[in-house]
Amino acid sequence: MLTYATYNIKGGVGKTSTAVNLAYLAAREGRRTLLWDLDPQGAATYIFRVRPRVKGGSQGLVSGRRPLEASLKSTDFENLDLVPADFSLRNLDLDLDDAKKRTRRLGQLLGTVATDYDVVVLDCPPGISLMSENVLHAADRLLVPLVPATLSLRTFALLTQFVADSDKPRPEVIAFFSMADRRKRLHRDVIDAGVGEGNRVASTVIPALSVIEQMAERRAPVGAFAPASRAAIAYEDLWAEVRP
Ligand SMILES: Nc1ncnc2c1ncn2[C@@H]1O[C@H](COP(=O)(O)OP(=O)(O)OP(=O)(O)O)[C@@H](O)[C@H]1O
Ligand SMILES: [Mg+2]
Repeated sequence: MLTYATYNIKGGVGKTSTAVNLAYLAAREGRRTLLWDLDPQGAATYIFRVRPRVKGGSQGLVSGRRPLEASLKSTDFENLDLVPADFSLRNLDLDLDDAKKRTRRLGQLLGTVATDYDVVVLDCPPGISLMSENVLHAADRLLVPLVPATLSLRTFALLTQFVADSDKPRPEVIAFFSMADRRKRLHRDVIDAGVGEGNRVASTVIPALSVIEQMAERRAPVGAFAPASRAAIAYEDLWAEVRP
Protein backbone atom coordinates (compact mmCIF):
# COMPACT_ATOMS: atom_id res chain seq x y z
CA MET A 1 0.00 0.00 0.00
CA LEU A 2 1.36 3.38 -1.01
CA THR A 3 -0.23 6.40 0.65
CA TYR A 4 -0.48 9.81 -0.95
CA ALA A 5 -1.83 12.97 0.62
CA THR A 6 -2.79 16.15 -1.19
CA TYR A 7 -1.83 18.78 1.29
CA ASN A 8 -1.18 22.49 1.57
CA ILE A 9 -1.52 24.97 4.41
CA LYS A 10 -3.31 27.19 1.91
CA GLY A 11 -6.91 26.66 0.92
CA GLY A 12 -8.41 26.61 -2.55
CA VAL A 13 -5.23 25.57 -4.37
CA GLY A 14 -6.41 22.34 -6.03
CA LYS A 15 -5.91 19.69 -3.33
CA THR A 16 -9.32 18.08 -3.78
CA SER A 17 -9.27 18.28 -7.58
CA THR A 18 -5.92 16.50 -7.54
CA ALA A 19 -6.96 13.86 -5.00
CA VAL A 20 -10.12 13.03 -6.97
CA ASN A 21 -8.39 12.78 -10.33
CA LEU A 22 -5.33 10.85 -9.18
CA ALA A 23 -7.43 8.38 -7.20
CA TYR A 24 -9.59 7.88 -10.29
CA LEU A 25 -6.51 7.28 -12.47
CA ALA A 26 -4.97 4.84 -9.99
CA ALA A 27 -8.21 2.85 -9.94
CA ARG A 28 -8.54 3.00 -13.73
CA GLU A 29 -5.20 1.27 -14.17
CA GLY A 30 -6.40 -1.56 -11.95
CA ARG A 31 -4.96 -0.55 -8.59
CA ARG A 32 -7.21 -1.14 -5.60
CA THR A 33 -7.62 2.44 -4.47
CA LEU A 34 -9.03 4.17 -1.41
CA LEU A 35 -9.75 7.90 -1.22
CA TRP A 36 -10.23 9.22 2.31
CA ASP A 37 -11.98 12.56 2.47
CA LEU A 38 -10.59 14.20 5.61
CA ASP A 39 -12.18 17.60 5.00
CA PRO A 40 -15.49 18.31 6.80
CA GLN A 41 -16.46 20.36 3.72
CA GLY A 42 -16.76 17.01 1.95
CA ALA A 43 -15.98 18.19 -1.59
CA ALA A 44 -14.41 14.91 -2.72
CA THR A 45 -17.33 12.98 -1.20
CA TYR A 46 -19.76 15.20 -3.11
CA ILE A 47 -17.95 14.72 -6.42
CA PHE A 48 -18.13 10.94 -5.99
CA ARG A 49 -21.85 11.10 -5.17
CA VAL A 50 -21.50 9.55 -1.75
CA ARG A 51 -23.51 10.61 1.30
CA PRO A 52 -21.31 12.68 3.64
CA ARG A 53 -21.80 10.62 6.72
CA VAL A 54 -19.68 8.26 8.80
CA LYS A 55 -21.59 6.31 11.43
CA GLY A 56 -20.22 7.17 14.84
CA GLY A 57 -18.43 10.19 13.38
CA SER A 58 -14.73 10.88 13.58
CA GLN A 59 -14.80 10.16 17.31
CA GLY A 60 -16.02 6.62 16.68
CA LEU A 61 -13.15 6.05 14.25
CA VAL A 62 -10.39 7.64 16.29
CA SER A 63 -11.45 5.99 19.54
CA GLY A 64 -11.51 2.60 17.83
CA ARG A 65 -15.17 2.03 18.65
CA ARG A 66 -15.89 1.64 14.96
CA PRO A 67 -13.43 0.05 12.54
CA LEU A 68 -12.39 2.00 9.45
CA GLU A 69 -13.64 -0.93 7.39
CA ALA A 70 -17.21 -0.15 8.46
CA SER A 71 -16.96 3.33 6.91
CA LEU A 72 -15.82 2.26 3.43
CA LYS A 73 -18.16 3.11 0.55
CA SER A 74 -17.83 1.99 -3.02
CA THR A 75 -18.00 4.58 -5.81
CA ASP A 76 -19.37 4.35 -9.36
CA PHE A 77 -15.87 3.40 -10.47
CA GLU A 78 -14.33 -0.06 -10.34
CA ASN A 79 -11.47 -0.45 -7.82
CA LEU A 80 -12.25 2.87 -6.17
CA ASP A 81 -13.56 3.07 -2.60
CA LEU A 82 -14.12 6.13 -0.46
CA VAL A 83 -14.16 6.99 3.22
CA PRO A 84 -16.66 9.82 3.14
CA ALA A 85 -16.28 13.09 4.97
CA ASP A 86 -18.49 13.72 7.96
CA PHE A 87 -19.21 17.09 9.53
CA SER A 88 -17.82 15.74 12.82
CA LEU A 89 -14.37 15.87 11.18
CA ARG A 90 -14.32 19.50 12.28
CA ASN A 91 -13.61 18.08 15.76
CA LEU A 92 -11.00 15.60 14.55
CA ASP A 93 -8.17 17.41 16.31
CA LEU A 94 -9.96 17.14 19.65
CA ASP A 95 -10.63 13.46 19.06
CA LEU A 96 -7.00 12.84 18.09
CA ASP A 97 -5.81 14.72 21.15
CA ASP A 98 -7.71 12.23 23.31
CA ALA A 99 -6.17 9.25 21.53
CA LYS A 100 -3.23 7.24 22.85
CA LYS A 101 -0.81 7.83 20.00
CA ARG A 102 -2.11 11.23 19.09
CA THR A 103 0.15 11.81 16.06
CA ARG A 104 0.00 8.21 14.74
CA ARG A 105 -3.67 7.39 14.98
CA LEU A 106 -4.51 8.01 11.32
CA GLY A 107 -1.66 5.77 10.19
CA GLN A 108 -2.80 3.07 12.62
CA LEU A 109 -6.31 3.20 11.20
CA LEU A 110 -4.99 2.90 7.66
CA GLY A 111 -2.89 -0.06 8.76
CA THR A 112 -6.11 -1.97 9.39
CA VAL A 113 -6.96 -1.90 5.65
CA ALA A 114 -3.38 -2.06 4.33
CA THR A 115 -3.78 -5.44 2.65
CA ASP A 116 -6.99 -4.39 0.88
CA TYR A 117 -5.55 -1.46 -1.09
CA ASP A 118 -2.62 -0.71 -3.36
CA VAL A 119 -3.04 3.05 -3.28
CA VAL A 120 -4.52 5.37 -0.66
CA VAL A 121 -5.14 9.06 -1.29
CA LEU A 122 -5.85 11.37 1.65
CA ASP A 123 -7.64 14.59 0.74
CA CYS A 124 -6.68 17.02 3.51
CA PRO A 125 -8.31 20.25 4.59
CA PRO A 126 -6.09 23.35 4.57
CA GLY A 127 -4.18 24.36 7.70
CA ILE A 128 -1.56 23.00 10.08
CA SER A 129 -3.04 20.90 12.84
CA LEU A 130 -2.75 17.68 14.76
CA MET A 131 -4.49 16.07 11.81
CA SER A 132 -1.72 17.34 9.51
CA GLU A 133 0.88 15.78 11.81
CA ASN A 134 -1.00 12.51 11.52
CA VAL A 135 -1.02 12.89 7.76
CA LEU A 136 2.76 13.37 7.69
CA HIS A 137 3.20 10.07 9.51
CA ALA A 138 0.64 8.20 7.44
CA ALA A 139 1.66 9.42 3.97
CA ASP A 140 4.55 8.16 1.86
CA ARG A 141 4.21 11.02 -0.61
CA LEU A 142 2.88 14.48 0.03
CA LEU A 143 1.56 16.12 -3.13
CA VAL A 144 1.53 19.88 -2.73
CA PRO A 145 -0.33 22.00 -5.29
CA LEU A 146 1.12 25.49 -5.60
CA VAL A 147 -0.64 28.36 -7.29
CA PRO A 148 2.18 30.27 -8.95
CA ALA A 149 2.45 33.38 -6.74
CA THR A 150 5.06 34.73 -4.35
CA LEU A 151 3.00 34.15 -1.21
CA SER A 152 2.40 30.52 -2.19
CA LEU A 153 6.13 29.95 -2.11
CA ARG A 154 6.46 31.53 1.32
CA THR A 155 3.75 29.21 2.62
CA PHE A 156 5.50 26.31 0.90
CA ALA A 157 8.68 27.16 2.84
CA LEU A 158 6.66 26.91 6.08
CA LEU A 159 5.28 23.58 4.95
CA THR A 160 8.69 22.08 4.17
CA GLN A 161 9.95 23.30 7.57
CA PHE A 162 6.94 21.66 9.23
CA VAL A 163 7.79 18.38 7.48
CA ALA A 164 11.50 18.66 8.35
CA ASP A 165 10.64 19.25 12.02
CA SER A 166 8.32 16.24 12.23
CA ASP A 167 9.38 12.83 13.54
CA LYS A 168 10.53 10.16 11.13
CA PRO A 169 9.42 8.53 8.95
CA ARG A 170 8.65 11.60 6.86
CA PRO A 171 6.87 11.65 3.52
CA GLU A 172 8.55 12.66 0.31
CA VAL A 173 7.31 16.14 -0.60
CA ILE A 174 6.42 16.57 -4.27
CA ALA A 175 5.27 20.04 -5.23
CA PHE A 176 3.59 20.91 -8.50
CA PHE A 177 2.12 24.05 -9.97
CA SER A 178 -1.63 24.16 -10.23
CA MET A 179 -4.19 26.62 -11.63
CA ALA A 180 -1.38 28.06 -13.70
CA ASP A 181 -2.07 30.63 -16.37
CA ARG A 182 0.84 30.86 -18.78
CA ARG A 183 -0.58 34.13 -20.15
CA LYS A 184 0.22 35.78 -16.82
CA ARG A 185 3.77 36.98 -16.64
CA LEU A 186 3.96 36.46 -12.86
CA HIS A 187 2.85 32.84 -13.23
CA ARG A 188 5.50 32.19 -15.88
CA ASP A 189 8.19 33.84 -13.77
CA VAL A 190 7.32 31.93 -10.60
CA ILE A 191 7.14 28.58 -12.43
CA ASP A 192 10.47 29.20 -14.15
CA ALA A 193 12.11 30.20 -10.85
CA GLY A 194 11.14 26.86 -9.23
CA VAL A 195 10.50 26.11 -5.56
CA GLY A 196 13.96 26.25 -4.04
CA GLU A 197 16.80 23.81 -3.76
CA GLY A 198 16.31 20.37 -2.30
CA ASN A 199 12.60 20.25 -3.11
CA ARG A 200 11.16 17.96 -5.71
CA VAL A 201 8.83 19.68 -8.11
CA ALA A 202 6.91 17.72 -10.73
CA SER A 203 7.50 18.82 -14.29
CA THR A 204 3.75 18.61 -15.00
CA VAL A 205 1.91 21.90 -14.56
CA ILE A 206 -1.86 21.75 -14.09
CA PRO A 207 -3.25 24.71 -16.05
CA ALA A 208 -6.22 26.81 -14.95
CA LEU A 209 -9.04 25.24 -16.97
CA SER A 210 -12.78 25.62 -16.62
CA VAL A 211 -13.36 21.90 -17.23
CA ILE A 212 -11.72 21.28 -13.84
CA GLU A 213 -14.26 23.58 -12.17
CA GLN A 214 -17.01 21.57 -13.87
CA MET A 215 -16.19 18.50 -11.77
CA ALA A 216 -18.50 19.76 -9.03
CA GLU A 217 -21.42 20.08 -11.45
CA ARG A 218 -20.76 16.84 -13.28
CA ARG A 219 -19.92 15.12 -10.02
CA ALA A 220 -17.14 13.09 -11.61
CA PRO A 221 -13.38 13.24 -12.23
CA VAL A 222 -12.45 15.02 -15.49
CA GLY A 223 -11.17 11.77 -16.97
CA ALA A 224 -14.70 10.35 -16.71
CA PHE A 225 -16.58 13.11 -18.55
CA ALA A 226 -13.88 14.81 -20.66
CA PRO A 227 -11.26 12.12 -21.23
CA ALA A 228 -9.58 13.89 -24.17
CA SER A 229 -9.44 17.31 -22.51
CA ARG A 230 -6.19 19.09 -21.69
CA ALA A 231 -7.15 18.83 -18.05
CA ALA A 232 -7.56 15.04 -18.15
CA ILE A 233 -4.20 14.72 -19.92
CA ALA A 234 -2.49 17.03 -17.41
CA TYR A 235 -3.67 14.85 -14.51
CA GLU A 236 -2.53 11.72 -16.40
CA ASP A 237 0.91 13.30 -16.82
CA LEU A 238 1.06 14.18 -13.14
CA TRP A 239 0.03 10.66 -12.17
CA ALA A 240 2.70 9.20 -14.48
CA GLU A 241 5.29 11.18 -12.53
CA VAL A 242 4.18 10.13 -9.06
CA ARG A 243 2.58 6.69 -9.52
CA PRO A 244 4.00 3.72 -7.57
N1 LIG B 1 -6.61 23.75 -12.45
C1 LIG B 1 -7.76 24.37 -12.14
N2 LIG B 1 -8.33 25.22 -13.02
C2 LIG B 1 -9.48 25.85 -12.73
N3 LIG B 1 -10.14 25.71 -11.59
C3 LIG B 1 -9.61 24.88 -10.66
C4 LIG B 1 -8.40 24.18 -10.88
N4 LIG B 1 -8.13 23.43 -9.78
C5 LIG B 1 -9.13 23.67 -8.93
N5 LIG B 1 -10.03 24.54 -9.45
C6 LIG B 1 -11.24 25.07 -8.81
O1 LIG B 1 -10.85 25.88 -7.73
C7 LIG B 1 -11.63 25.62 -6.57
C8 LIG B 1 -10.76 25.05 -5.47
O2 LIG B 1 -10.21 23.82 -5.91
P1 LIG B 1 -10.08 22.56 -4.92
O3 LIG B 1 -11.35 22.35 -4.21
O4 LIG B 1 -9.51 21.45 -5.70
O5 LIG B 1 -9.00 23.19 -3.92
P2 LIG B 1 -8.66 22.75 -2.43
O6 LIG B 1 -7.22 23.10 -2.23
O7 LIG B 1 -9.05 21.35 -2.19
O8 LIG B 1 -9.60 23.73 -1.59
P3 LIG B 1 -9.91 23.63 0.00
O9 LIG B 1 -8.69 24.19 0.66
O10 LIG B 1 -11.14 24.45 0.18
O11 LIG B 1 -10.10 22.17 0.32
C9 LIG B 1 -12.71 24.65 -7.03
O12 LIG B 1 -13.83 25.38 -7.41
C10 LIG B 1 -12.10 23.95 -8.22
O13 LIG B 1 -13.07 23.54 -9.14
MG1 LIG C 1 -10.26 20.50 -0.70
